[in-house]
Amino acid sequence: MKHIVVLSGAGVSAESGLKTFRDADGLWEGHNVMDVATPEGFAKNPELVLTFYNERRKQLLEVKPNSAHFDLAALEQDYKVTIITQNVDDLHERAGSTNVIHLHGELLKARSIKNNDILPWNTDMKLGDLCAQGHQIRPHIVWFGEAVPMIDEAIEICKTADILIIVGTSMQVYPAAGLKDFVKSGTPIFYIDPKPADIHDKYVTTIKEKASTGMKTVIKALSSQ
Ligand code: APR
Repeated sequence: MKHIVVLSGAGVSAESGLKTFRDADGLWEGHNVMDVATPEGFAKNPELVLTFYNERRKQLLEVKPNSAHFDLAALEQDYKVTIITQNVDDLHERAGSTNVIHLHGELLKARSIKNNDILPWNTDMKLGDLCAQGHQIRPHIVWFGEAVPMIDEAIEICKTADILIIVGTSMQVYPAAGLKDFVKSGTPIFYIDPKPADIHDKYVTTIKEKASTGMKTVIKALSSQ
């Protein structure tokens, strides 16, 4: 079975109603990213940060996967599929994908601020909510300036790709954006994005479409391979 590796970003969830990061003048749902998505922002105003992620979590529980998520999940009928996502939502999983790596953490998990304890979390998070060892918890999100613990595993997975699908990412944030450089030379790459970044690689087919229609185009291309 061929191995399809998918690198997804906020754009794959846009048609579900979740906002992307870089489509709104550097603001994310009205906030400066540095205030809500950095360890410094959390140290300065933890309540603001917790409230911000509480709102994101609430919103996530109200939306549904879209056809791009479902089409990616359906690829598992014919391929081994690994999804490496920058998204903190669980829409790939809810669509049925069974092998999803979250590079930037997960909105529906909490993490202790003192150790690596990770717990499931689907309600509001407040100051005073503690892990089993009695430490404050925080959203299980990789903030700007923090290490990306899953990156080494993601690199190894990319090395084994027979096909790479990149969908809905501006390719601005590293190390995630660098993953495409780890696929074997000559690996076909499909890049779906209505406003794609310039990727200079002769094996890239850029599909300037939304995730939903772009996935249909990719499926057609795969079936004629
Ligand atoms: N279908 C596909 N792509 C879309 C759609 C859509 N319907 N709508 C918008 N896009 C594209 C935009 O053109 C853009 O290129 O999705 C991309 C979203 O880019 P970003 O907002 O930069 O999101 P992403 O690449 O996932 O950001 C990476 O940055 O803020 C951090 O940690 C956060 O994981 C995030 C990382």
